[in-house]
Amino acid sequence: MEWSRIAVFASGQGSNFTALVQAQQEGKLGGGSIELLVSDKPEAPVAQRAEAAGIPALLLRPKDFAGRELYEAAIVAELQRRNIGLIVLAGYMRLISSVLLEPYARRIINIHPSLLPAFAGKDAIGQALEYGVKLTGVTVHFVDGGMDTGPVIAQRSVEVKPGDTAESLAERIHQVEYGLYPEVVAALAAGRVELNGRITTIGE
Ligand code: GAR
Repeated sequence: MEWSRIAVFASGQGSNFTALVQAQQEGKLGGGSIELLVSDKPEAPVAQRAEAAGIPALLLRPKDFAGRELYEAAIVAELQRRNIGLIVLAGYMRLISSVLLEPYARRIINIHPSLLPAFAGKDAIGQALEYGVKLTGVTVHFVDGGMDTGPVIAQRSVEVKPGDTAESLAERIHQVEYGLYPEVVAALAAGRVELNGRITTIGE
């Protein structure tokens, strides 16, 4: 398994997917190469983005399988066939089971639109607005069996401004994501991330 061979998993718009593809085209992905898009929503806009970028896509509907394990086993088979070494979740809205976690232990990362451990789970931006925090942000973390609970790799803050709506705050959070995620993926692809217990370090 090579760290530089990357699969991106996404369920929706795929704007982070596009930001990663652009970073690669600009030589800013640490030698990483996006080899595959995996989506559980074949009709999602991200599938068209992959096609436009000339990136192969594995589009599987979980409900076409007898269970989550069989769905993930089909994904693992394709990842191994392509010698994928790093899985990058970018708006992939499913919990991952041990079928994927075991062969890819510490090789799966996620981006979440809050400063974890605040506002884990769905609608993190809505949760932050409703709570009334003045500062929220973006977290990139390793994925474990829990919901947004794995070791944090990087975080960046975003101010909540008076009068912010879910849309206006999401827009600023997205802009921060497009910068942060490629940086972290580049560090991983280049083998510059160390993990000791829950503590991660990004080296030079
Ligand atoms: C991103 O904002 C990402 O942080 C969030 O989904 C969005 C996907 O946007 N992920 C989660 O909420 C995961 N719990 P995109 O499809 O345009 O990249």
